[in-house]
Amino acid sequence: MSSIDTATGQEAPEELSKERVRSIFAQIARRYELFNAVSSFGAYRLWLARMAAQVPVDPQAQVLDLAGGAGDVTFTVARKVRPAHIHCTDLVDDMLNVARERYERGEASGVPVSFQVVDAQRIPFDSERFDAVTMAYGIRNIPDRDQALREALRVLKPGGTFVCLEFSTPRNPLWNGLYNFYLDHLIPFWGKVITGDRDGFVYLSQSIKAFPRQDAFADMMRAAGFERVEWQNCTGGIVAVHVGRRPHGTCAPQRAQG
Ligand SMILES: C[S@@+](CC[C@H](N)C(=O)[O-])C[C@H]1O[C@@H](n2cnc3c(N)ncnc32)[C@H](O)[C@@H]1O
Repeated sequence: MSSIDTATGQEAPEELSKERVRSIFAQIARRYELFNAVSSFGAYRLWLARMAAQVPVDPQAQVLDLAGGAGDVTFTVARKVRPAHIHCTDLVDDMLNVARERYERGEASGVPVSFQVVDAQRIPFDSERFDAVTMAYGIRNIPDRDQALREALRVLKPGGTFVCLEFSTPRNPLWNGLYNFYLDHLIPFWGKVITGDRDGFVYLSQSIKAFPRQDAFADMMRAAGFERVEWQNCTGGIVAVHVGRRPHGTCAPQRAQG
């Protein structure tokens, strides 16, 4: 296993990053949606729609949403793709509680959704179970990303699709400079104003800067076993939607231990 500190990218025990994200997301769960809306000037909805457009439309499809949090991806996919069922999962039950309440309010528009605490590094489902696996803003928070990618591949059916939305690196140097200024100064400000937790948003900025660029993350996906890996930049590369498929005719990778 190769665990890192997700704030710096340096090697570190898994528990360091895992406990940090547990504590941050348990604290900000109820203000998370508002923070997203304000800090992205509403663009997060556009990014979610771009992500959902990559999930193949199939009324029989079984979908797994990893790091599903308060359910934004689950509900967007439910409304736009209308699969047979979505498993909305996350490490932090406080985040899933927000998603459960949204589900009760009808945000899945009739698509059945179940909720479960799951560490994306050790997915407790059988191999080859899902037609699509989604993850938005999750992989950056995971200390052993290679293992999480292998687990996503394992639970996909051959030919199944992995769609991963994540903060990324703008290619235009001016836009990248502005973005970095925003990350350093305004993200912690908005975080403090909206959730009261400045430190959690200093972490958010650090983890975004430490996350691999689009091409490097695509290489990680290929190394995990995905094929036909591609990505689309949104808003000049502030975020990117990465897509990979599980090859046909390969044996399921071993289930992660631990
Ligand atoms: C920034 S939120 C994104 C939530 C949701 N996907 C969205 O788009 O709004 C990141 C989520 O990743 C979850 N997370 C962090 N580490 C995880 C892990 N190892 N396994 C599963 N979820 C994890 C956090 O609890 C948090 O809910």
